[in-house]
Amino acid sequence: MANILIINGPNLNMLGKREPEVYGTLTLDDVRQHTELKLKDTPAKLEWYQTNLEGEIVDRLQKAATQNYKAVIINPGGYAHTSVAIHDAIKILQIPVIEVHLSHVYRREGFRQTLLTAKACMAIMTGLGKDAYWLAVKSQL
Ligand code: DQA
Repeated sequence: MANILIINGPNLNMLGKREPEVYGTLTLDDVRQHTELKLKDTPAKLEWYQTNLEGEIVDRLQKAATQNYKAVIINPGGYAHTSVAIHDAIKILQIPVIEVHLSHVYRREGFRQTLLTAKACMAIMTGLGKDAYWLAVKSQL
């Protein structure tokens, strides 16, 4: 049974193909493998979930509130900047939720400077690339 849930939102399934100058050339599966390798000597048991749909992220967070995870790591993708619904769903959880971004959103376009879902999270990591995921998990073990 997994003890940490990792949620990736829209367009993160396109890593490796999308804007490599911003996100690098690794795929989401490469990021998953890197994360699992970094955590192999820890008690972390990860469950990975990706969807492009806002409501499915809300559904997954609501379900997580009924499960026994120690923490949730979430990269909401573009919804980080817009989604009141995901913000509100994060607030339902009684466990730490950490928002991660591969890129350094504060060094990018103005519309990325509003971090709406992050306001509901315990912490946020931005700009550490593929290392954000395992570092976020490690902080919760
Ligand atoms: C992202 C940053 C967001 O602004 C963007 O919409 C993404 C990826 C990141 O991981 O850097 O899809 O969340």
